Amino acid sequence: MDCRSILSALLIAMAGLSCTSADSLMSISTSVYGYLPNGDEVTMATLRTADGAEANIITYGATVVSLRMPNRDGDLGDVVLGHDSLAGYLSANPYFGSIVGRYGNRIANGQFTLDDSTYMLARNNGPNHLHGGIKGFDKANWALAGTIEEPGRVGIQLRYVSVDGEEGYPGELTVDVTYVLTEDHALSVDYAASTTKATPVNLTQHTYFNLAGGGDILAHEVTLAASHFTPVDSTLIPTGEIRSVIDTPFDFRQAFAIGARIDEDDQQLAFGNGYDHNFVLDQAGPGDTLQAATVYDPQSGRIMDVRTTEPGVQFYTGNFLDGSITGKGGRTYGRNSGFCLETQHYPDSPNQSSFPSTILRPGDRYATRTVFAFRTDAEAH
Ligand code: GLA
Repeated sequence: MDCRSILSALLIAMAGLSCTSADSLMSISTSVYGYLPNGDEVTMATLRTADGAEANIITYGATVVSLRMPNRDGDLGDVVLGHDSLAGYLSANPYFGSIVGRYGNRIANGQFTLDDSTYMLARNNGPNHLHGGIKGFDKANWALAGTIEEPGRVGIQLRYVSVDGEEGYPGELTVDVTYVLTEDHALSVDYAASTTKATPVNLTQHTYFNLAGGGDILAHEVTLAASHFTPVDSTLIPTGEIRSVIDTPFDFRQAFAIGARIDEDDQQLAFGNGYDHNFVLDQAGPGDTLQAATVYDPQSGRIMDVRTTEPGVQFYTGNFLDGSITGKGGRTYGRNSGFCLETQHYPDSPNQSSFPSTILRPGDRYATRTVFAFRTDAEAH
């Protein structure tokens, strides 16, 4: 370790000591999680409630590395997929827990035209651009810009400045992501951004949840506040159609087990090898967060509600996990080991004029919010 690293380790250790919340019921502390090959430190923040629910978030990728929530008996369990150490996140990591950007999801042919200029992006997913490119925001080491300690809530602010031209996108984009854990077991994610040139922006959170804390997620029951979805072509680019879910395996307006229809003979399911689709939320912000999804695990009794200001949510059932990644505790992640609910604008919006716009212009403020709130079937609702 060089002097700078030692000094920053000391500062972080001091911050860790001094960060016990004034509200003695909740706490926040920071520690060194690891070092990147270039020597930069990756810091971990631990947000904890009085009853021990906990979120651990690292600066690398602004990644949620663990989220411990109680089951119906009050026993805590980790409900997210990931790795035990930084080395895992630096090697085989299909966006476990991270913030993706500058554009979460796909842009057809890695290309878009904005204000008469055509921009070329990396094609890192077959012919298409996915999740911000080769080095998206999930692979950036975000700065820990601040901590929040208020009665009933603790949190951290993370900042990343994406330079003009990064991964082919125009404009310097300054992004702030704020994670807050509340005493009633909700993890909120606030996204804010501003730019120096017009650019597409679509930020999302890519945590893979497994409310049982192990096994597959096929028995989890999902409800989505979506009467429509955006069907895709074989490369998972929306065709432009906004299709009704009625009489399809995509109708989650009432709770269905993920596995109930996932292997049905359906062209859309075949394209995704399961669910990997953007659902059009019936009600959308901006303004207040509105209910997007509820997921219930009958085994543990855990329930997760997702609320968002975004107009869509990508429901992805971990179809590309194939057992080749070994994660926490030596566990192998096979198909359907976890599910994602990536709240977002629709995929490929920069090329689809009928979709809500994702273009941020200088002087405008990007601001979205998503909340993942946990409860159990033992609680009165
Ligand atoms: C998103 C995409 C999926 C897949 C995962 C990461 O959810 O929609 O197709 O690329 O990210 O593996």
